[in-house]
Amino acid sequence: MSQQKAQLTIEGKVYDLPIIEGTAGEKALDIRSLMRDTGYITFDSGYMNTGSCESCITYLDGDKGILRYRGYDIADLAENCVFIEVAYLLLTGELPTKAELDQFKYDMTRYALIHEDMIHFFDHFPPNSSPMSILSTMVATMHDFYPEMDLEEDPYGGLTTTTARLLSKIRTTAAFSYKKNIGHPLVYPRPDLSYCANFLNMMFDRPNMPYTVEPVAVIALNKLLILHADHEQNCSTSTVRLVGSAGVGLYPSISAGIHALWGPAHGGANAAVMLMLERIYRDGKNYDKYIAMAKDPNNPYRLSGFGHRVYKTYDPRAKLIKEVCTAVLETLNVKDPLLEVAQELEYRVSNDDYFVSRNLYPNVDFYSGIIYRALGIPTNMFTVMFALGRLPGWIAQWQEMNSSKDSSRIGRPRQVYQGVVSRPFSKIEDRG
Ligand code: CMC
Repeated sequence: MSQQKAQLTIEGKVYDLPIIEGTAGEKALDIRSLMRDTGYITFDSGYMNTGSCESCITYLDGDKGILRYRGYDIADLAENCVFIEVAYLLLTGELPTKAELDQFKYDMTRYALIHEDMIHFFDHFPPNSSPMSILSTMVATMHDFYPEMDLEEDPYGGLTTTTARLLSKIRTTAAFSYKKNIGHPLVYPRPDLSYCANFLNMMFDRPNMPYTVEPVAVIALNKLLILHADHEQNCSTSTVRLVGSAGVGLYPSISAGIHALWGPAHGGANAAVMLMLERIYRDGKNYDKYIAMAKDPNNPYRLSGFGHRVYKTYDPRAKLIKEVCTAVLETLNVKDPLLEVAQELEYRVSNDDYFVSRNLYPNVDFYSGIIYRALGIPTNMFTVMFALGRLPGWIAQWQEMNSSKDSSRIGRPRQVYQGVVSRPFSKIEDRG
């Protein structure tokens, strides 16, 4: 808490509001006692300007395009780490030592299977079910299959073990749901493969056509997952915290976060981008038509993969993902016409005053789908990939929320009521 105070005058009376200052100099007015002291609430639909917690996990400066996990720049982490190292960092606050990482990997291998009874669930979803609804259902049921993992005193060794188990089981679930969806036999996790290589192998290995894991695919997947691993108080993370604040355990909270991520304004944008690029391509690359639709104030259409609530400059994740995208396509010798469509669309948007004046740049979802496609991952799995990446962030934020007396207070926004205030009740027979 800073020594400074802000002053607010309401109806001629002056109130002092404490100022909270973050370690990077961000300042916030502490309005927690505003209602009690003044009878006023603040109004901020969409939480454009509301801090819901103090956090030590991720630092983001949307004007300068900075993103850091626990103080480390994401470019350094993406270049030098594997995903599970970053997961460990997010969760514990420190990069693991070799011994800690080995233990984390061991836990992942040990707990990689899912209960065989859970596998039957896949058979009862209708064909073409969304992998996101399957994933969130499966995660919610883990509460019943692995109740010990949701206990405050986890007998299996605390939150890092729980995280390893969850990361590992969700990876297995995601790959199994894909195999079930295409009707192929399940491929079980292998102890000799790394986190990302194991996932790709479970997705693409077949008895009649063994899969060779390409190192470039593993590198790309590690980077993608790292770049998605946390993004402070976004919609799904805030959902995880909000649901968790009601006192439910980790699994229901994560399951709710998966649902929030699904939306096309959030993680679902990566699939929406591909559909948009395909549409433009099939429409004879009629860029002008789609740009005009997005600019029309009477048309709700938006260019997916552009814009961000917080970034008012190029999304630093998008910059790195764009580099990975070109490298992967070149190395795997994939010629994807949608890359050219994406590049041309970005070029046109970056020279259009509507987008420039609103600071609408490509976001994390713009180029990621082209990479997933080059790796063979189908469009309906893209948001599941985002969920796999975001999982350590959700867990770390849930844990931080639970360990802070203040931010674990049940989340409960206020409203300004605009309906009928009061009217006399009439019985049904008197209503005509
Ligand atoms: N295409 C066209 N116009 C846009 C777009 C877009 N993609 N995004 C924002 N705008 C316009 C919007 O119409 C508004 O114009 P005006 O000032 O004339 O009313 C202005 O830009 C500000 O937009 P906003 O809706 O107030 O911004 P927001 O912070 O509420 O929304 C957003 C942020 C990401 C939901 C939005 O930019 C969007 O819908 N983008 C497309 C979906 C997308 O790519 N989502 C992924 C976000 S990154 C991954 C993640 O964090 O999940």
